Amino acid sequence: MECFRIIGPTRIRGEVTASGAKNAALPALAASLLTEGALELSGLPAVRDIRTMRQLLAHLGVESEERGEVVRLQSRERARPDEAPYELVKTMRASILVLGPLVSRLGQARVSLPGGCAIGVRPIDQHLAGLEALGAEVHLEHGYVSARARRLTGAVFRFTQPTVTGTENLMMAGCLAKGTTVLENCAQEPEVRDLATLLGKMGARIQGAGSERIEIEGVETLTSASHRVIPDRIEIGTYLLAAAMTGGEILVRGAQSADLAPLLEKLTESGCELEVSNDGLQLHRPGELKPRDILTAPHPGFPTDLQAQYMAVMTQATGQATICETVFENRFQHVPELARMGADIQIQGAFAHVHGPTPLSGARVMATDLRASACLVLAGIAAAGETVVGRIYHLDRGYERMELKLQQLGARVERLPAEPTRAAATL
Ligand code: EPU
Repeated sequence: MECFRIIGPTRIRGEVTASGAKNAALPALAASLLTEGALELSGLPAVRDIRTMRQLLAHLGVESEERGEVVRLQSRERARPDEAPYELVKTMRASILVLGPLVSRLGQARVSLPGGCAIGVRPIDQHLAGLEALGAEVHLEHGYVSARARRLTGAVFRFTQPTVTGTENLMMAGCLAKGTTVLENCAQEPEVRDLATLLGKMGARIQGAGSERIEIEGVETLTSASHRVIPDRIEIGTYLLAAAMTGGEILVRGAQSADLAPLLEKLTESGCELEVSNDGLQLHRPGELKPRDILTAPHPGFPTDLQAQYMAVMTQATGQATICETVFENRFQHVPELARMGADIQIQGAFAHVHGPTPLSGARVMATDLRASACLVLAGIAAAGETVVGRIYHLDRGYERMELKLQQLGARVERLPAEPTRAAATL
């Protein structure tokens, strides 16, 4: 199993370019199921989840072709028109995003239930209740969800809690439904807004995406379109945090500040200097890091996908920072690993109290999910000596060429084909 070997401490310094957002690219790819026309998408990050989604779409009869930076997708006749099998869904929960488009365009779908995952139970009850509200018959059997409807019919549906992929699924379903669909208590994430922009280019009539209430006027068909996905705010945030943690200086090219407001606010309060320009976002940490509490919440709150990386940074702040995770129930799995590197963190339910600054020392640690892996890489860069981060296949799901980007920023990180059997020589 591949791993990262990191020699620290190093200060992050330099420039890096933001990749396209994985979580915007995944629903954009799924939207190819909504039309017989061709979708031309650019800015798709070269990460494993994107490859998995393309594999799933190929299984569902969507041909995709790369022309330089553009991926062209075209839905064709299908061998098994409507089934997303367990083998693919189990590797990526976002596979559920094919459910809404399949039911709305083909009238039926059979998608494996994604099950739990490392960060929590993560049910899809809201996706299903929403489809039922639009008139689909939904059954769960043999580990699969089957949904069927001659044509979906617009309705008012209120999510019991905001869900990102749930909002995206129902927004796509509503595009081809008969009449008007109103979705309330929607997720307001920038990725939802980006999907609505793409759907609009395909001829969908959507208002309010990015707010709590989305109104969709159903149309008969959707057509070809071209779209570039937005930059990855979580990747951008991760590199800004790496610079903040190591007292460094960074320019993230292509970064947009509006979507990162809650992180930028905390970074400023904790003593970092930020500058927004046409080139992107620049961060510099001139002095001591001050501890700042965070509470994760749906957008526009502090993103749960940056909680682990922020916690790594707070181990270097002077004083106590409290981190409250409200989105997922089991997203502190990086804590014992950080503790092995010398961090002083107490967990009390949904709260983690981080006492800093603690000198970190390199250790062998293991990644448990995508963002926890990024947290451990940051800790490895700041720690003295050698850190080996195992199971980096998690990291490869969502970070494009991370070791290369970090090397460009001065970090001593390399990918090894297997975990070393004993303490290896320095890089
Ligand atoms: N939830 C339900 N019922 C549902 C759907 C969600 O109870 O039917 C709960 C979840 O269990 C969770 C909360 O609602 O407690 C929010 O989950 P949400 O549905 O918003 O998460 P998601 O759509 O499955 C997306 C991202 C995640 C990100 C979350 C929260 C994609 C492909 N994934 O997941 O990204 O953490 O929103 O912002 O967009 C990552 O990139 O590392 C990642 C995990």
